[in-house]
Amino acid sequence: MQFDESFQLPLHHRVIFSAALLDPSNRVLRDVLAGSGARRAIAFVDAGVESAHPQGARALQAWFHAQASAGHMLPDLCSVDVVPGGEGAKNDSTVVDQVIAATERHSIDRRSFVIAIGGGAMLDAVGLGATLAHRGVRLVRIPTTTLAMDDAAMGVKNGINRFGKKNYVGAFAVPWAVLCDETYLETLSSRDFRAGFSEAVKIACLRDPSLLTQMERDAARIAARDIRVSMPTIVRCAQLHLEHITRGGDPFELREARPLDFGHWSAHKLESLSGFTIPHGEAVSIGIALDCAYAQRIGLLQEDDAVRVTACLRALSLPTWHPLLENIDGLLRGLEDFREHLGGVLTITQLTAIGASVDVHEMDAAVLRAAVRSLAP
Ligand SMILES: NC(=O)c1ccc[n+]([C@@H]2O[C@H](COP(=O)([O-])OP(=O)(O)OC[C@H]3O[C@@H](n4cnc5c(N)ncnc54)[C@H](O)[C@@H]3O)[C@@H](O)[C@H]2O)c1
Ligand SMILES: [Zn+2]
Repeated sequence: MQFDESFQLPLHHRVIFSAALLDPSNRVLRDVLAGSGARRAIAFVDAGVESAHPQGARALQAWFHAQASAGHMLPDLCSVDVVPGGEGAKNDSTVVDQVIAATERHSIDRRSFVIAIGGGAMLDAVGLGATLAHRGVRLVRIPTTTLAMDDAAMGVKNGINRFGKKNYVGAFAVPWAVLCDETYLETLSSRDFRAGFSEAVKIACLRDPSLLTQMERDAARIAARDIRVSMPTIVRCAQLHLEHITRGGDPFELREARPLDFGHWSAHKLESLSGFTIPHGEAVSIGIALDCAYAQRIGLLQEDDAVRVTACLRALSLPTWHPLLENIDGLLRGLEDFREHLGGVLTITQLTAIGASVDVHEMDAAVLRAAVRSLAP
């Protein structure tokens, strides 16, 4: 006896950009939580947000209190815990375990909410805890960095690092909602603010040449944290990531190619070789520059285009070099990590023009060495 049934799931991905989310008059969070049948919620706040931003744990508690006083029927906020932010949050299972323990302590059921306010790393770790408890509790992500708003929070991935490898343990799950509030960005360090724009350069190179032109024009103002020119880039980048997930036909990455991971094979390896001291966004910037230099050398990409992309990254004050690039053997092990993560044949996305790419299945060590040399200061 054999049964082969195909089936589809009705998935919905809701992303809202709104300033001053925790202002009592702002309805966005209320509308997301109300009418959901949930009786309870627990929240986690990135320690970096908590120490720097007025919209931290207390503001969330005050917001729930104000809604209840105004007669709005919302789930009870049972706890707000501050958890470490940054890559350290992903380097062991402490945060994941903390989330799972809190779900048990507060009788969180599958209709309850886990609200996570923080950067991409903390969202990945808290999201994994929420995905594992009861096989999936509703997750509301409130990203507080440029990179989390334009990429990480849009994803349907949660994960932590193990064995020194990025995102080795993780799970796919679509969040209940993603709520982006630009006011969080005010307290972000300049380094972390700029780091998020490497993902915008990445997706512009792959999907939207006009976005690259816009960033070339606005680079100095973005690097200087001008929020009026930065936000449209963040929103467009988020939209392109969302479109890829919802319309690209492979949200749970069953194929061998992972097209949006342009520049990421070396980025993930640089992060791990550096003991996770190079922030993801900076590693992606270096990875993009390296792949452009490589693609130019094998005749895939015109020199003008390669120079353009690298110049844009530099104009955004993003790095295009790190001494660890000289560890070619270490770097090349990143190719195998990348292949192993996706399974099947090694598949790396390389640019052929701004807005066009191709999959390649091998990379030449000697060409890579020459590409690295060309980026050295
Ligand atoms: N799940 C996905 O699809 C996906 C996609 C892209 C990236 N990521 C992951 O995202 C992570 C990088 O995220 P990131 O760039 O947001 O950095 P991050 O989460 O490491 O945060 C950087 C620092 O900023 C602090 N911080 C966060 N918000 C702040 C604020 N508003 N004010 C002051 N400080 C604040 C944090 O505490 C941390 O110290 C990486 O682990 C990467 O792998 C995941
Ligand atoms: Zn990335």
